[in-house]
Amino acid sequence: MGRTRGSLAGALIPWQTIDRAIVPGYGELTLHQRGTFFVIRLDGQELMGSHDHGSEDLLATLACAGLLARADARVLIGGLGLGYTLRAVLGVVGPSASVEVSELVGATVRWNRGPLGHLADHPLDDRRAHVIERDVVDVIAGVRGHYDAIMLDVDNGPDTTSQWGNPRLYSEAGLRQIMRALRPEGCVAIWAASETPSFIDAMRAVGLQSECVRARQRGTSNRHVIWFGRMPSRGRAR
Ligand SMILES: C[S@@+](CC[C@H](N)C(=O)[O-])C[C@H]1O[C@@H](n2cnc3c(N)ncnc32)[C@H](O)[C@@H]1O
Repeated sequence: MGRTRGSLAGALIPWQTIDRAIVPGYGELTLHQRGTFFVIRLDGQELMGSHDHGSEDLLATLACAGLLARADARVLIGGLGLGYTLRAVLGVVGPSASVEVSELVGATVRWNRGPLGHLADHPLDDRRAHVIERDVVDVIAGVRGHYDAIMLDVDNGPDTTSQWGNPRLYSEAGLRQIMRALRPEGCVAIWAASETPSFIDAMRAVGLQSECVRARQRGTSNRHVIWFGRMPSRGRAR
């Protein structure tokens, strides 16, 4: 997803391919390691890497702020990746919370239980974490008034969907579906590699109280973006 940076020292260590998996309909997913750095590629193109997960953590802390005291908190993360967002959520919700992670690719789940597990301190071992190997679009469509927070990090953002391509999530119909899946005071947070000015208008048009939060990528001038939307006060949804 163009999120990663190599280091000069790391450049001297050769890449190793750790595992491969065919993802039907998408291509070949490969897991690579160089020193302590891991990367997942789809058909040779980098999807995600293990350096700098500040904005992935921010996605969680923004969406789950205030949920620590909520005993029955239910949250959904779209996209397990390397488990950083999941780890950050587990750090800010309470002991009885339910944290569902929807992940399209079984190999990613398997790698998180194996060679990638240490990166985010084995978040799948936490009893509050529940992995659903299913498209997050279908998970969202299957519930009504269910989640306190939905976090989506399945693409590069609303206008630059990744190889996975989830544009239906960001359409008007997709945003309304997300709102139906949220509890009355619930919120949605969407990770993006860059800012799409029109997306906040789309969020506001469906009635979400929305803002764009920028997160600087460590060591670069790049800024990632979190699109944050809260359910409107009762009676104000369109
Ligand atoms: C960039 S990674 C997520 C990174 C994650 N936030 C972290 O902290 O490591 C995107 C993940 O979304 C998954 N994904 C893509 N489309 C999906 C979908 N429609 N439903 C569920 N998972 C999806 C990919 O397989 C990948 O694991």
